[in-house]
Amino acid sequence: MKILMLCLGNICRSPLAEGILRSKLSSDFEVDSAGTISMHEGEKADKRSIKVAANHHVDINEHRSRPITTKDFENFDRIYCMDLHNLQDALSMAKNNEQGAKVSLILDVLNSGKSNEVPDPYWGDLSDFEKVYQMLDEACNVIAKEINFNSKTI
Ligand code: 4NP
Repeated sequence: MKILMLCLGNICRSPLAEGILRSKLSSDFEVDSAGTISMHEGEKADKRSIKVAANHHVDINEHRSRPITTKDFENFDRIYCMDLHNLQDALSMAKNNEQGAKVSLILDVLNSGKSNEVPDPYWGDLSDFEKVYQMLDEACNVIAKEINFNSKTI
């Protein structure tokens, strides 16, 4: 099972989502992240994402931003998007229905009935990053539980 987390710049939200989910899964699973824009390509995660992750014992220091490519739609089984813009951008890159079916909003796994977008914390402060962490942690608990269950029943 290969999972890709997607946001805009691949420096704030999706590197956090990647680190959180990886921390909950064994190394049999591949977790990566990307952005819909290449503006921050090669950069480390935003300092505030690194700090908030470290506060929760998740290390995302090795992360480097990269843009999503058409190959990702072949390589990954699921592409979890942070917001509706990312979702639209990803769907417009999918070559067929099979690839499109891999794409969803990450917070949809919670079925909370609330707004299903992870807000962009880029212009906010550390408390906004912490809120994003909590949302992603909750979603990744559900994803990890489901993946582990399915991998044991196959
Ligand atoms: P991300 O946050 O999509 O969660 O990585 C942002 C990163 C960069 C920008 C906006 C959002 N930016 O405008 O450069």
